[in-house]
Amino acid sequence: MTASGPTAPDLAGASAARPLLCIETSCDDTSAAVVAGREVLSSIVSSQNELHAQFGGVVPEVASRRHTELVNDVVAEAMSAARVGWDDLGGVATTQGPGLIGALLVGLAAAKAIAYRRRLPLIPVNHIQGHIAANYALGVEAPFVCLVASGGHTLLAVVEEGVAYRVAARTMDDAAGEAFDKGARLLGLGYPGGRELDQLAVRGDPRYVRFPRAVPRSRDFSFSGLKTALLYDLRGRDDAEVEGHRADIAASYQAAIVGQLVEKTVACAAGDGLRRVAIAGGVAANSALRAALAARCTADGLQLSLPPLSLCTDNAGMIGLAAAFLPALPWPEYLGLDAFASDAEAKAARPAVRRPRPSR
Ligand code: KG4
Ligand code: ZN
Repeated sequence: MTASGPTAPDLAGASAARPLLCIETSCDDTSAAVVAGREVLSSIVSSQNELHAQFGGVVPEVASRRHTELVNDVVAEAMSAARVGWDDLGGVATTQGPGLIGALLVGLAAAKAIAYRRRLPLIPVNHIQGHIAANYALGVEAPFVCLVASGGHTLLAVVEEGVAYRVAARTMDDAAGEAFDKGARLLGLGYPGGRELDQLAVRGDPRYVRFPRAVPRSRDFSFSGLKTALLYDLRGRDDAEVEGHRADIAASYQAAIVGQLVEKTVACAAGDGLRRVAIAGGVAANSALRAALAARCTADGLQLSLPPLSLCTDNAGMIGLAAAFLPALPWPEYLGLDAFASDAEAKAARPAVRRPRPSR
């Protein structure tokens, strides 16, 4: 599959030299950034983790309402942190999908309102392409294979040019971030749990439990069996044993996820004859994954791009980095633009309704 969007840089209507105001509200982080080319001038993220922790997962309706409350302040903060005024902007970029539809619509509506008022072009961005583009802050050059691993997605993207990519492998069941979060929950850690599990595992022995690794001979990922293996492992131990070895069990579980991610990513690079590897998405912030992939790439003579942690988890900076490769919709042709929850829905979507140009 090739992701939607053209391959060549095309900022028709937007000035490539002037900074973009960027908005990302696809899930539970309200984020705004100011990005100029490959430079993120500011990036503000207001996380809703604490709000959703009481429910043990993201509640879409709650997330949308919170985005509505936060988006204006987050945009203002991003503008002031970048020391950029409204007149300096060359366009507005926003996540169009995939994600939670209500949450996406808040960011899209805010972006439309600002772009319309300032007579600016608008650049709709695919969230996955945003994650991949985080690597452009480091100056990576296509082609490269990118492991995209987040709470909602796990896939291997062969990035051919800009942010245009082909999916070489994907998860057959859970996303890697979901595996981290479900594992964290079983281990009695907080929500979302990936980062907490990472921190706990630092002082554990990854060889304490031998959890199942990858599905042999498959390019695709699978994590649901691993989660079940953890459940049965914990059930087989008494409370004192779990308490005494929580870090060891966490480290072993993490090692199984990381092992699978590293093996399949390196195999994909070899299979496609690519010498450059990149990672993206919230799970790319995992310290064990970063260390293991770095060691493996060094051993195999592969060049590795590790984006800064702030560009791994959801943020609007990555949306601006992707926007530089995507077409801008001229003022005011984006007013009828819709958000999409999944890539399948985006493909089926009708084009934005063209409205008559209001007189200036
Ligand atoms: O990319 P992201 O912020 O949101 C989605 O697009 O899903 O990814 C969030 C996911 C969560 O599952 C979270 O637990 C996981 O990334 N995550 C981590 C770490 N930091 C965030 N997983 C493992 N180790 C981390 N350090
Ligand atoms: Zn994401």
